[in-house]
Amino acid sequence: MTTMKKLTFPDDFWWGSAWSAEQAEGKGETGKAETIWDRWFKEQPYRFYQRIDSSITTDHIHQYKEDIELMKKTGHNSFRVSISWARMFPNGGTGKVNPKAISFYRKLFSEMNNNGIKVFANLYHFDMPATLQDKGGWESREVVDAYVHYAETCFKEFGDLVCHWFTFNEPLGPILGTYREDFHYPNLIDFKRGAQAAFFTILAHAKAIQVFKELALPSKIGVILNLSPTFPRSQNPADVKAAEIADLFYTRSFLDPMVKGNFSKKLILLLQEYNQLPEDYTKEDLVCIYENTAQILGLNYYEPRRVKSRSSMVDTSSPFLPEWFFEPHIMPGRRMNEYRGWEIYEKGIYDLCMDIKNHYGNIEAFISENGMGVADEERFMDDTGQIIDDYRIEYIKDHLAYLWKAINEGCNIKGYHLWTFIDCWSWINAYKNRYGLVSLDLTTQKRTIKKSGEFYKQLSDTNGFRYDVDLLVE
Ligand code: BG6
Repeated sequence: MTTMKKLTFPDDFWWGSAWSAEQAEGKGETGKAETIWDRWFKEQPYRFYQRIDSSITTDHIHQYKEDIELMKKTGHNSFRVSISWARMFPNGGTGKVNPKAISFYRKLFSEMNNNGIKVFANLYHFDMPATLQDKGGWESREVVDAYVHYAETCFKEFGDLVCHWFTFNEPLGPILGTYREDFHYPNLIDFKRGAQAAFFTILAHAKAIQVFKELALPSKIGVILNLSPTFPRSQNPADVKAAEIADLFYTRSFLDPMVKGNFSKKLILLLQEYNQLPEDYTKEDLVCIYENTAQILGLNYYEPRRVKSRSSMVDTSSPFLPEWFFEPHIMPGRRMNEYRGWEIYEKGIYDLCMDIKNHYGNIEAFISENGMGVADEERFMDDTGQIIDDYRIEYIKDHLAYLWKAINEGCNIKGYHLWTFIDCWSWINAYKNRYGLVSLDLTTQKRTIKKSGEFYKQLSDTNGFRYDVDLLVE
């Protein structure tokens, strides 16, 4: 059966996309401190796809005016950038603020506002100034203080231009990458130190919100979390327990303290049992975290998490890891984005929104990232030079249909931002997988709207699209 229907989204829905400073701006001439990405590239260039670093990326710093025109042509009414801490404080992330950085961001944000594009500004997207990493990065209270000073400076300098603020993008990412999975500088595999860094990240979030509230700006502040609904392989108690534990580590770890102000008791007990709790924390820290929670929540959704109970014994002399308690379940028949190695499961976006509705007070939220990175997209270029990315259009529609269902069932979802706008630099994957609504020629920096960019404009103009609702499963 086919039941085609127009899926209409709420009035003033935020249609847009996101990227980050390190991935899109390029170094420019404003002055900028070395970041951990510059440092890591210098030390181990062979770990970056085709040995491409972040010095030029999408050169947004020079091309921002043209880029804002492209935002309009692709239907944006909102866009998330991140501010570069290293550009704001070129002397290693502290010291005197950089007037050239202030001037750049004020021009960018003003131009966006003048063109009807709301500014969503994120303060930290994986780009620690290297000097602050040398001081311990997120394991150091000194770095927390430096971050709060940087945040306060941004609130004061740009508060009149920003619609919504975010303390962090995916704070779990650097913890996972640095302390557990070796994909983030300085590549230390040590869970307990990671737990300390996670605690201080949460504290930094709360302290920034505290300062924000004192300034009484007209905007809201929140956080952007990467969340995946967790599914056990079966209802066997061992699989269910494995899924519960995975969910504690990957979902509740940041969501609970940053949105509710407290930590999951089950997670605390588990970490206590294995002597993995952070040691440096005070009662004042806990009160600050409790009193200063997110006012708005960004949800980055790419893939579900499927787990099963372990089939082998743990070698307890190996470094402690969440995977001591579960294994990934490679579900037969799953649909994959093979280029990125992520499962595509559109219903997961609905499950995630329902979790936020049912367990987090239905806080005001939006999809802050969702998207499909594809390698060698030139294969899909037509004679005019446009990428015909029908697969991306399908991907967006399939996810939006489940988002529409969630909204219709009462989820407080205010918008959808795609990852990403123009193809941008993807950390160690550099330009391997392209995610944009607009393609980028790396040699000439020429931008060309993809077919998905045209679709996105129509979607935003009409605030919806036609879809076969019989495809939506319960
Ligand atoms: C998100 C990050 O998790 O995924 C982005 O916020 C990132 O910074 C995006 O680029 C896509 O992942 P990747 O690794 O393919 O770049």
